Amino acid sequence: MKIVITRRIPDSIKQMLEVNHTTYMWQEENVPIPYELLLEQVKDADALFTNVSDRIDKPIFQAAPKLKVVSTMAVGYDNIDIGEATARGILVGHTPDVLSEAVADLTFALLLATARKVVEAMNYIKEGSWKGWGPMLLTGQNVYNSTVGIIGMGGIGKGVARRASGFGMRILYHNRRRREDMEQELGVEYSSLDDLLQASDFVVMLAPATLETRRMIGERELSLMKPTAILINTSRGSNIDETALITALKKRQIWGAGLDVFEVEPIHADHPLIALDNVVLLPHIGSATVATRMEMAEMTALNILMGLSGKKIINIVNP
Ligand code: DGY
Repeated sequence: MKIVITRRIPDSIKQMLEVNHTTYMWQEENVPIPYELLLEQVKDADALFTNVSDRIDKPIFQAAPKLKVVSTMAVGYDNIDIGEATARGILVGHTPDVLSEAVADLTFALLLATARKVVEAMNYIKEGSWKGWGPMLLTGQNVYNSTVGIIGMGGIGKGVARRASGFGMRILYHNRRRREDMEQELGVEYSSLDDLLQASDFVVMLAPATLETRRMIGERELSLMKPTAILINTSRGSNIDETALITALKKRQIWGAGLDVFEVEPIHADHPLIALDNVVLLPHIGSATVATRMEMAEMTALNILMGLSGKKIINIVNP
């Protein structure tokens, strides 16, 4: 059977797939496969090894009559038309849990970097601007003993809450359903979205991208935040109205933002966010540790192998 792999993946993972199958692999690691080429390659494909930046939509499914399994090297699958896959009996797998701690680390790194102007401070030295110590030079916001509001309390939210409690933070959360288990275990407090926005020094967006969460943080929500507050997003860009955020940052309505994800990725040098001095921007690297990415790649491959051999895919999106 033929497996299409939409990015260059480590040899060991490719070899796993090639034991009983043939593969087509797009050779670039950081450049997406052109959509037209993907349409062509899926014509005789039985399985697809994909990732967050491929659009797997109806025309792709229409072009792939033999397709049985789609497996994405990600926990999020908003780039895949799940309804269309399900209607065609195509299994969709993903990689939950294995990345939660790595993404929680990166979320906290972004929170600290934004609050303490870490990137700006490094650039200050690089530019040769450092002339001496200054009483208010590069001053940021306290993290310890502050209040964090986590929107989306799944595995990553739990990881962020554990890290936050080490910093003595009060932890509020907002979630589709209340997590009484986590309230007891971690001492987190359930809050309405508006109360969370008003009370938090750090608002951390971790919700999955769905129709309900689309632009969940917009002009009104940003206006509820404190002028000293920082917004962190390591989930999906579509959860935040980027135009409203840029306006709020320009007007200093909020103090700053740390973003690992954007409405349209990648962003380029002329993107309005890049001109701002109160942001830290990263190129969607939440889960990017060697160990985590290897685990994700292996799980993606296993989903395919299980699906093609008629076994139950453990990490399935559409049962
Ligand atoms: C995911 O898994 O959804 C991440 O965004 C990719 O690292």
